[in-house]
Amino acid sequence: MEPLVLDSRTRLLVLTGAGVSAESGVPTFRGMNGLWENHPVEAVASPEGFQADPALVWRFYSQRRSGASSVMPNPGHEALVRWEQHLGDRFLLATQNVDGLHSRAGSQRVVDMHGNLFRTKCADCRREPFDDTSVHPSGTVPKCDHCGGRLRPDIVWFGEMLAPSDLTRIGEFITRKNGTRLVFLAAGTSGAVWPAAGLVDEVRAARGDTWLINFESAANTERFHHFVQGRSGEVLPTLAKLV
Ligand code: APR
Ligand code: ZN
Repeated sequence: MEPLVLDSRTRLLVLTGAGVSAESGVPTFRGMNGLWENHPVEAVASPEGFQADPALVWRFYSQRRSGASSVMPNPGHEALVRWEQHLGDRFLLATQNVDGLHSRAGSQRVVDMHGNLFRTKCADCRREPFDDTSVHPSGTVPKCDHCGGRLRPDIVWFGEMLAPSDLTRIGEFITRKNGTRLVFLAAGTSGAVWPAAGLVDEVRAARGDTWLINFESAANTERFHHFVQGRSGEVLPTLAKLV
């Protein structure tokens, strides 16, 4: 396998999906025993589902909060921290994962594209989202102490828009003109959900090199220049040559 060379001219955008956290024991969404196999997406991960049964949604996310608190970052997360330390502001990590494992591993230049499991916001007023590890297994719906409305996890649900500031940050990183060579690496993602699944095309349009590290072929594998099949926790620690 040819190495991914990270040198003083490299600008690296990384996109991670559930397959990176899977190495820490966090269930993925699609495929064998995936989260969406056992829970109807609309009921637990959409504004309509929250409207219909907020208690069910809090039970689902309380279970995910407890699960994510009890696992540790893995060698794949740690490799990305080393790459960031090597590249500095020529590194950006866009993650679809909401489990907070990248930050716990030490990643700092992170865009939480789909929100964060350990942040809560109000469904009924525009108060700032806040850090929150509380769980509500009995399905009580916590109340907002600003407006008395219903609190909800600060997650981007199906049918909701990603934060424009996040998309701008990623877009500016891709189109930055500073003489560096753009490289894009996606790891552990099925390429099923947009706009994350379209980043490879944005990078190709910016004449960047594109890599996919995944356990199996993804929906957009053929869009990548390089495809390395394998477990992210094994491939990421040995893939890059830091020069
Ligand atoms: N190493 C590498 N890849 C893996 C591993 C592993 N150990 N385990 C699983 N994979 C791959 C699977 O083959 C699959 O292609 O990771 C991918 C996980 O795909 P999904 O479960 O669809 O997760 P993801 O791509 O992150 O989903 C994107 O969908 O439901 C929404 O918001 C949710 O962020 C999520 C988004
Ligand atoms: Zn409120």
